[in-house]
Amino acid sequence: LNFCVPKKRKEILDKLIKGLQRLEYRGYDSAGIGVDGGNDIEKSEQPTILIKKRGKVINLQEEIQGREDLNFDLEFDTHLGIAHTRWATHGVPNNVNSHPQRSDTNNDFVVVHNGIITNYKDIKKFLIGKGFEFESDTDTEVIAKLLKYMYDTRESDSITFRELVEGTVQQLEGAFAVVFKSTKYPGQAVASRRGSPLLIGIASKSKLSTDHIPILYSKGNNQEALNTANSTSSFQPANGDGQVEYFFASDASAIIEHTNRVIFMEDDDVAAVTDGCLSLHRIRRSVDESSTRQVQTLQMELQQIMRGNYSTFMQKEIFEQPESVVNTMRGRINFDANTVHLGGLKQHINELKRCRRLIFIACGTSYHSAMATRQLMEELTELPVMVELASDFLDRKTPIFRDDVCFFISQSGETADTLMALRYCKGRGALTVGITNVVGSSISRETDCGVHINAGPEIGVASTKAYTSQFIALVMFGLMMCEDRISMQQRRADIIKGLKELPDKIKDVLKLDEEVHSLAQELYQQKSVLIMGRGYNFATCLEGALKVKELTYMHSEGILAGELKHGPLALVDKAMPIIMIIMKDGTYTKCQNALQQVVARMGRPILLCEQGDTMSQKEAHRVMELPGIVDCLSGILTVIPLQLLSFHIAVLKGCDVDCPRNLAKSVTVE
Ligand code: G6P
Repeated sequence: LNFCVPKKRKEILDKLIKGLQRLEYRGYDSAGIGVDGGNDIEKSEQPTILIKKRGKVINLQEEIQGREDLNFDLEFDTHLGIAHTRWATHGVPNNVNSHPQRSDTNNDFVVVHNGIITNYKDIKKFLIGKGFEFESDTDTEVIAKLLKYMYDTRESDSITFRELVEGTVQQLEGAFAVVFKSTKYPGQAVASRRGSPLLIGIASKSKLSTDHIPILYSKGNNQEALNTANSTSSFQPANGDGQVEYFFASDASAIIEHTNRVIFMEDDDVAAVTDGCLSLHRIRRSVDESSTRQVQTLQMELQQIMRGNYSTFMQKEIFEQPESVVNTMRGRINFDANTVHLGGLKQHINELKRCRRLIFIACGTSYHSAMATRQLMEELTELPVMVELASDFLDRKTPIFRDDVCFFISQSGETADTLMALRYCKGRGALTVGITNVVGSSISRETDCGVHINAGPEIGVASTKAYTSQFIALVMFGLMMCEDRISMQQRRADIIKGLKELPDKIKDVLKLDEEVHSLAQELYQQKSVLIMGRGYNFATCLEGALKVKELTYMHSEGILAGELKHGPLALVDKAMPIIMIIMKDGTYTKCQNALQQVVARMGRPILLCEQGDTMSQKEAHRVMELPGIVDCLSGILTVIPLQLLSFHIAVLKGCDVDCPRNLAKSVTVE
């Protein structure tokens, strides 16, 4: 929303499209925008223009460019535009189901929504009973129509846009981040969230009058403040000429090129902009709740989220790993004193050390990072360690106790299943720890303490550098837990030495790129590939297979070599591509057995092994040699050729590397 900032319609449209493009990396299937129909703020017969298109943002952009009826030069002093990329939950991806959704054919009230409204059927039934006709299959449409119903049945003409929205969102169940626009309230914006992320960006040339915005409560203790909502208790830029732009976005990358000053909204906050002033509202205040929201300054640079010289973000992120792992360790490991300091856990160190069980909960790649470090975690902490997929953990209603410590590992910090599991564990009194990449994300804010992996923005839908950084964050936690165990000192020193060597060894592994490319040429027309290993490298097999599936749509399976004879051996013949990971660790001899079993069935193993391991190489159809490293860190090196392999196969098959079909980067629905 720009207030007193004159802008041509073209500039407004470009800004909205640009914002959507910045979010497109999350992987979505349709997009839409809503802008003012005319620039005479007094005239209500200038309905909001909605343009919606199935497919990528570029389709929407082309549609807009081709709209001859739009006067691109029309100038607006004050204007609210809304835009959205959708990832279908209710209703197939098509133009009608795209957002914004509207209240009626005049577009009186329009809304963009992330999340799921679980009681939408009940609301829909109610509204149909009141004569509303629905056009889409979405859950979102009920929100716009319910708002219109509230407006039509209002008791007084003085009801504000914000009050209408408050009344509406109180009826909603499920998860949402919503932004509303209305021809009845031109130049005003109202937004709210529950369960889905939403932030407000403020761009103004003048200094901000405050960096703490008070919350106004409509019931309870500061009615007085509410009455003055548009003057003293609301926010406006100080000493300025009134020019200000407000942005609402689910992710800072959409707005970072306009401002780095943001407020993260909390569940059930309602934000309203009226006459250029921003105010924040809640229904009532509960105990222990902060009564202000802070304006934070983000350090994220736009170039950080751009692609550089690489063909895709995924490729860039794979090659960034020598630096991203350093960023994860920076300021946390003292390589001379062999100590680890994790500032985000400091205040809870005693509770952590007293706990009886560690539980790691995550989805997708993040889950694999917990699998990869489980054995080491058991060794270093001598505690029982459970590793759980968030959805299954919830399905089982897993028993959780007050002396459990529960970790929530999530690159985005927004994955709905993981977030639900967090709330479940919190409710049962466990200490909760977040391992996230996105500062200010829901998981990082709702956990008691945590570690930011600092890998930098990850844009490719398939996670790569976040995985290796999560791995390292978990290793550092293990090291911290056994700092005062004398018996553990030699092992700790070996691991810390390994961490120090990692960046150079990752660089060596990345030099295999050409070899991996040639392997990809051999494999890309195959139907399936098996990836086998055990011990510290089983997680690499699972993660490698996930990468191949996600990116190349080829079948792939990570197989525990110890289970080979219990089934997978039946798949082995001379045609089946089999990748075997054999490193010189405690499972080396057993891996040799698996290798023999495969070769005996005419299998032609493609080997990932340590430099100079001639014994394994004798039997292999192809070999890729990796540098040796302390056993528990080898999974960081072995996963990289598989990241590269899936990337090259995807390119050879013509797949969309950064946005694989049907997948999203941030899965904010259960
Ligand atoms: C989605 C993504 C995966 C990711 C998983 C967990 O499925 O496509 O790449 O591993 O979510 O995401 P999180 O942000 O919680 O790590």
